[in-house]
Amino acid sequence: MGIERLVDTTTNIEDSEEQILENSLRPISFNDYIGQERMKNNLKVAIDAVKKRNDGTTLDHILLYGPPGLGKTTMAAVIAHEMGANFRVTSGPAIERAGDLASILTNLAEGDVLFIDEIHRLRRAVEEILYSAMEDFKLDIVIGKGPAASSVRLDLPKFTIIGATTRAGAIAKPLQDRFGLVQRLEYYTEDEIKKIISRTASILNTEIKPDALDLIATRSRRTPRIANRLTKRVRDYADVNGDGIVDKEIAEKSLSLMEIDELGLDPADRNMLKLMLENYGDRPVGLSTIAALTGDEETTISDYYEPYLLQMGLLERTKNGRKITAKARRHLEKMV
Ligand SMILES: Nc1ncnc2c1ncn2[C@@H]1O[C@H](COP(=O)(O)OP(=O)(O)OP(=O)(O)O)[C@@H](O)[C@H]1O
Ligand SMILES: [Mg+2]
Repeated sequence: MGIERLVDTTTNIEDSEEQILENSLRPISFNDYIGQERMKNNLKVAIDAVKKRNDGTTLDHILLYGPPGLGKTTMAAVIAHEMGANFRVTSGPAIERAGDLASILTNLAEGDVLFIDEIHRLRRAVEEILYSAMEDFKLDIVIGKGPAASSVRLDLPKFTIIGATTRAGAIAKPLQDRFGLVQRLEYYTEDEIKKIISRTASILNTEIKPDALDLIATRSRRTPRIANRLTKRVRDYADVNGDGIVDKEIAEKSLSLMEIDELGLDPADRNMLKLMLENYGDRPVGLSTIAALTGDEETTISDYYEPYLLQMGLLERTKNGRKITAKARRHLEKMV
């Protein structure tokens, strides 16, 4: 993992303080899930239709994709809550063998929601079992080995799979086709991020002045996970260095300690852009070259650094590679 990044959008399960914070701030229903209006509307229609039909059919399988920290896991739990369904959780890498999936599926009850996080990391053999399970709620099991092997089909209860991934492109076509609803999570608007910060501040019992709120929002990379993390850091700073109220001065001081600039970039982002500029100017660079320059994995760059930089117009994707933009160049010049 290297150095810990404050704007790192991944969660570290072992970091229990962070996990507790995330869980305590997690919206439960559509009403407290802020933003993603398009997705919420689509999902509400689908959920209402199932409830209205009331004929034993279940909600379509749903695939949620988009950059880390935007609220995929949260939305999956919200959907189960809105359906009044049990929410069962697993992940692609956790299901090692076909038998593991078979035992998860046979233990489901009618109407359950099974959440498969990082679904792009399912093994092929496991994925194949999932196809018929998702399509006809049947489980094909092979008994025995060699010429004597035979296969049986078991009926499964009707359930809903919600898959989540940061990389929709990494999901096999046959799997993707089995999701009736495919929804992309978008970066939040600054207004939505402000609402999320206000909500978090009120749960944490902290007063944030409006100009401080603006400041925290612009540095949150339009990402709820980061907004929450910054809010908590700023709150801690205010408790230690002030009277607990977050005003503009407190917010400014605490954010500058974290080395996050006004575009939400941290030293690692700026370092990557700087290396690209110094070595390639505004010519396009391949992903593997960027990875070699920064010493990161290619997927770290494509899944974690790049989506936000693209969204902010700091990086551009061309068919010959990634290119830094004039906006990024101006930003870097201002920062030195
Ligand atoms: N729409 C929202 N409104 C309020 N808070 C949100 C919203 N979406 C996410 N959050 C907060 O952000 C945190 C991160 O969200 P979540 O874990 O759902 O992201 P994710 O997309 O699953 O990320 P990853 O790809 O890393 O699994 C949650 O704990 C929750 O507190
Ligand atoms: Mg998640």
